[in-house]
Amino acid sequence: MKVTVVGAGNVGATVANVIAMKNFASDVVLLDIKEGVSEGKSMDMMQAAPMLGIDTTVTGVTNDYAATAGSKVVVVTSGLPRKPGMSREDLIGTNAKIVKGVVDQALQYSPNAIFIIISNPMDTMTYLTLKDTKLSRNRVLGLGGLLDSSRFKYYIAAALKEAGMPATITDVDGMVVGGHNDKTMVPLVSYAAYRGIPITKLLSPAAIEDAVAKTKKGGATLTQLIGTSAWYAPGAAVATLVGAIVTDAKKLIPCCVYLDGEYGERDLCIGVPVILGAKGVERIVDVKLEGEEKAAFATSVAAARETNALLATALQ
Ligand code: 2OP
Repeated sequence: MKVTVVGAGNVGATVANVIAMKNFASDVVLLDIKEGVSEGKSMDMMQAAPMLGIDTTVTGVTNDYAATAGSKVVVVTSGLPRKPGMSREDLIGTNAKIVKGVVDQALQYSPNAIFIIISNPMDTMTYLTLKDTKLSRNRVLGLGGLLDSSRFKYYIAAALKEAGMPATITDVDGMVVGGHNDKTMVPLVSYAAYRGIPITKLLSPAAIEDAVAKTKKGGATLTQLIGTSAWYAPGAAVATLVGAIVTDAKKLIPCCVYLDGEYGERDLCIGVPVILGAKGVERIVDVKLEGEEKAAFATSVAAARETNALLATALQ
């Protein structure tokens, strides 16, 4: 089974490397427009194969979409990452045209592929891809919720440790829905738990509020520290989405998908829990949000629609 990763920057290269290490795809094609970058990074990954037990073949190409032909999944990481102080939405002017061009070329060679969009502003880039390709909505999804949920778990575990509870991140459950947006994403406190115990029974309201605030700006915090967007957790998150599709795992994972009535919303892409499998989005899990979380989701939807409205100008 072949997977294509477009963009051999920090995120794209990490996606390819994590997929290779998990050995669930026979081939990964890593494509970039910059001469030599994909070829070099792929060769470096393959030279680690003996030590890491990698059986997957990672091949780097420079702008050669024919090499991506027949991919089951196409991951789009192309475009600029944000710099310190930028919002993801600030990137729409540069990234919209890039994403459209990449998707159009990849789809020509892999007409049955499932597309996973990473490029920011991701919710809007996912919406652009769906509208541009007119693919069925199960075949177009975006990475946001899984990454933000992982950051939410990280900050909950830190708060539990701070409160004297020796929590490991893998024992914490938590989900973030809504837009992949520093201001409007919705960490679902009501669903968050430590080994099944609701965090509201273990942490003070102030500690929970602090974990939520840190989650929302989690990406920006890293960009401030390292000068560019993060890549280890985003790369691992994308590889998890790809793995669920390639292995037909039927896993419940928060992803950015096109809503057509679910959550009372239509005609936008935004983060909600879905079941991922061989068909891509096998099912949207329409949980009934309540109270503040329902209101926050509505705010997030409005923000995503506002950014979507900028697409026409961005594509001129
Ligand atoms: C992040 O939050 C790159 O948007 C991605 O790190």
